[in-house]
Parts: sequence; structure tokens; C-alpha cells
Amino acid sequence: MSKTEEINRLNDLLQDKAPEEVIHWFLTSFDGKVAFSTSLGAEDQAITYMISQIDKNARIFTLDTGRLFAETYELLDLTSKKYSLNIDVMFPDSTRVEEMVNTRGINLFYDSIENRKLCCHIRKIEPLKRAFEGLDAWICGLRREQSVTRKDMRLVEWDDNNGLIKINPLIDWKEPQLWEYLKSNHIPYNKLHDQGFPSIGCQPCTRAVMPGEDVRAGRWWWENPETKECGLHKKS
Ligand code: ADX
Ligand code: SF4
Repeated sequence: MSKTEEINRLNDLLQDKAPEEVIHWFLTSFDGKVAFSTSLGAEDQAITYMISQIDKNARIFTLDTGRLFAETYELLDLTSKKYSLNIDVMFPDSTRVEEMVNTRGINLFYDSIENRKLCCHIRKIEPLKRAFEGLDAWICGLRREQSVTRKDMRLVEWDDNNGLIKINPLIDWKEPQLWEYLKSNHIPYNKLHDQGFPSIGCQPCTRAVMPGEDVRAGRWWWENPETKECGLHKKS
């Protein structure tokens, strides 16, 4: 079966199922070869909770870029303890970070898109590739309504850049549904969400948004919407 046929088959099989069932199916069928990548954002907190109800030993990891908000570290600590989970923390290569910062500046990302992409590459993409070793599939918290770059995404996709199946269990969820789920299950979430930050990444590259503004307007706000992906979810 070709990759396209396999992905179509998985979408047909799973598209009407609840996110919990989709996650359960992958954790069981790809035993040990699937991991969840969490940024500790609202969507990811919902998925972490779902996983904790299915299998506390499932592999969960987060990428610590070294530039996250203090509130995100607090939430990481709280979440691992509350649900008794081991969330693996992946760090960038210190030599690569030193070389980049010492040649281009500590806040290089504001100077050019090239610099911003380099920083995302060293601090996120390289550690992500290491986290992927030995995996066949990864779960992430993308939702279609988050951005113009995400509107055509499917529940199950072939991630050609990484040679992995990519699973987006919340792809169809709308914002109110997400928040209803978090609140009714008493799931902890980043305090910054209550201070105007719908989408949270690194501290220097995230700002609050005004009511009515796009949910990702506060991410890399100085760039065009079409370039605003760090490479984690780039189309091949
Ligand atoms: S980003 O590409 O713009 O940074 P976004 O913050 O919307 O991504 O998150 C989308 C999904 O990417 C998350 O649900 C999560 O699966 C993954 N992700 C983003 N940032 C991280 C991170 N720091 N660590 C692990 N996974 C992440
Ligand atoms: Fe660097 Fe900003 Fe990308 Fe974080 S989001 S890795 S600080 S450019």
C-alpha cells in the first residue's frame, strides 16, 4: 500500500471518532512507536489529559528552546506532577546555540526572517529530529481554524519532512469546545491564556492579542501570516 493509500485508509477509519478514541487507537496500534509532542498550549493540555487517562507510560516530550515563558515552565512542572507523567524535555545543542548567539546576537530573530528561521531550526527543529528517533508517528495539537497555514490539514497526514505519520486529534475542534473540555475536566492551563495570549510559543516571539484579533496574531507578529510557521509544521 502506498503512503497516500495508507493515510486515506486511516482517515476513513478514524475521522468520525472522538479524539480520545483516535489517541487510544494510535497508542495501541503503534505501541512504543508513537509520541505526543506538547508545547503546553491549551490544545496540548487537553491531549495530555486524554493520554493520562489511557496510558501513563505513553511517550510525551516537549522542546525547551531556552526562551520559554516562566508560566510555561510552571505548567510543565504542575502537569507532570498532577497526572504522574514523565514529560521528556528536549534541549537544543549548546554549541550550536552559542555559535548562533555569539555571531548574530541574543535577539537575532527580530533582525531578519533568515535569523528567525535559523533560531527556530536550532532551538526547535534539531531537538525535534532527535525526539523522533525510532518513531513511526507523532501526535500534535493542531486545529484547522488556528491559521491560514492550517486550514487544509487532515486528522491523519503523512509528514514527508520527517518520514512519519502525523496525527492531529483536535483538528476539527473549535475554540469554545476546547475551553469547555479544559474547564469541565479541571485541566490546568497556562496562566497567560487569561491575559490575552491565545497561542503561546517562545517569550520574545509571542505577544498578547487584542479582542477580535486572529489567534496567532501574537506569534512572530512582525512577519506576514504566510511565513508564520517555525518549521515544525511546514508543508513538504
Ligand atoms: S508553532 O509551530 O507555531 O510553534 P504551535 O504553537 O501552534 O506551533 O503548536 C502546534 C503544535 O506543535 C503543538 O500542539 C505541539 O504538538 C507542537 N509544538 C509546538 N511547540 C512545541 C514545543 N515547544 N514542544 C513540543 N511540541 C511543540
Ligand atoms: Fe527562536 Fe523565537 Fe523561534 Fe523561539 S520562536 S526558537 S526564540 S525564533
